[in-house]
Amino acid sequence: MEHYFTNNEALKSEFRTITYKFQDSEFCFTSDNGVFSKNKIDFGSRFLVETFLKDNKKPTSILDVGCGYGFIGIVLAKILHCKVTLIDVNKRAVHLAKKNSKDNQVVTEVYESNCYDAIKDTYDVIITNPPIRAGKKIVLDILLKAKDYLNEEGCLWFVIRKDQGAKSIQKKLGETYKIELLKKDKGFFVFKAKKN
Ligand SMILES: C[S@@+](CC[C@H](N)C(=O)[O-])C[C@H]1O[C@@H](n2cnc3c(N)ncnc32)[C@H](O)[C@@H]1O
Repeated sequence: MEHYFTNNEALKSEFRTITYKFQDSEFCFTSDNGVFSKNKIDFGSRFLVETFLKDNKKPTSILDVGCGYGFIGIVLAKILHCKVTLIDVNKRAVHLAKKNSKDNQVVTEVYESNCYDAIKDTYDVIITNPPIRAGKKIVLDILLKAKDYLNEEGCLWFVIRKDQGAKSIQKKLGETYKIELLKKDKGFFVFKAKKN
């Protein structure tokens, strides 16, 4: 069975366009077969971005881990005018995130990367809608290793569904971070975690 994180170059492309509006800013994303939430913006990703944008602090640098076609990173780059890097293990997602950055007139850096393998810098914010279907080990790798790629006062932001283990992940991350549940909606939880 194909997953949204599997690289399958033989998978037939069927491009589609997804639009999104935040206040006065309009976005247009190209999506394709073989990437996460290919037909619409995922509710959890939208909830995460909109919760993040209500936070008043403006970061200088953001890393979007598991960027898919680029929704989270591209919206934040455009609204906040900060340096955004996007990474994903899925080549098709990386290609789309590059195209979507250009099409939405934002300058970003986009890399193919298994977890943080391609990352050398540190960031004010790491943000992710983690790949639950890739398994708990990968999810915990992404969430726990974020600590090594955050600036001193940096924060990890993520969204997770209650029925996908939000509570146990909160408990586990509590060993490494000061973790705060910021918002809940329709069973999705948005967390902000700071280095202890
Ligand atoms: C839940 S999706 C979120 C996608 C995108 N951020 C969005 O909001 O539409 C998780 C993403 O993580 C990627 N992913 C899975 N395993 C990964 C890994 N080991 N390293 C980096 N990214 C990974 C998947 O390809 C997928 O695009």
